[in-house]
Amino acid sequence: MSFYLFNVGIVNLCYNFEINDFYMISGGLVTDFRHFADCTSTNDLARAAASSGADEWTVFIADTQSAGRGRMGRTWIDEPGSSLLMSILLRPGTDPSLVMSLSLLAGLSVCKEIENHCGLKASLKWPNDIIWSGMKIGGILIESASTGGSLHYAIAGIGLNLNNRIIPEGISGKATSVFLATRRVFERIEIAKGIVAFFKDHYDEWLGTLGIAEEVNNRNRPGYLEEYVKYCITIGSHVVIERNDGILHGIAEDVDKNGALLVRLANGSRLSILSGEVSIRGINGYV
Ligand code: BTN
Repeated sequence: MSFYLFNVGIVNLCYNFEINDFYMISGGLVTDFRHFADCTSTNDLARAAASSGADEWTVFIADTQSAGRGRMGRTWIDEPGSSLLMSILLRPGTDPSLVMSLSLLAGLSVCKEIENHCGLKASLKWPNDIIWSGMKIGGILIESASTGGSLHYAIAGIGLNLNNRIIPEGISGKATSVFLATRRVFERIEIAKGIVAFFKDHYDEWLGTLGIAEEVNNRNRPGYLEEYVKYCITIGSHVVIERNDGILHGIAEDVDKNGALLVRLANGSRLSILSGEVSIRGINGYV
């Protein structure tokens, strides 16, 4: 059993962070949570386990990462023992082009869990930056491998600034934490379990929509997409799209069922943007 001593404000808090265990999550799902003191990246742990046949919904949690990574080659910096650093192994077996949907499901699940559990109403900047009060509080990195035209596995890497007390100088004013927003400390394992439970429900719903014809899906949007759109502050905003071939301006109008952002350009045409193709920023700065 391991105990960590934290000094939070003027109160010393002693937390038991023994996380390794099997947990019953949602609809009878039993998940194997594997806890590591340190690692390069929880996504690396998940990838190695995936290659040796680990089950879907195995969850990897670390106290710190020496090479945490974010989207677009960025570094993910943690506060050891305070940040929630987790990766969920999934084996959807779908077409690899559908992997983008997973990042929407993960971002939505994090927002719902911190709203439910911590009382903090965060938003999503498309595709999956978790934002509170104009500052980033968490992010999602999906990595995957395909064989024979289907997803062999996908890893949903989730980084949440949970009990972090200090925001590194380079990103101060652009990032914050649940602790800094609420002045309360939360147990990482409880938040992790809540995220997995929401994710499992949305994932099952998403898998269930895959066989349904496009036009039916467009008329009856799945519940997870309706919810995603409500949390997404990018929709309705003026966005700047930076592409290799130039910069475009437009208004983000919607997100389609594959997770693409639909942007109305000044010339009236509608552009469908998939993550990875562009970097996107609001007209007035970070959000
Ligand atoms: C982003 O916003 O750019 C995505 C950040 C994702 C960070 C998490 S922390 C757990 C997992 N391991 C990593 O190395 N990255 C993800």
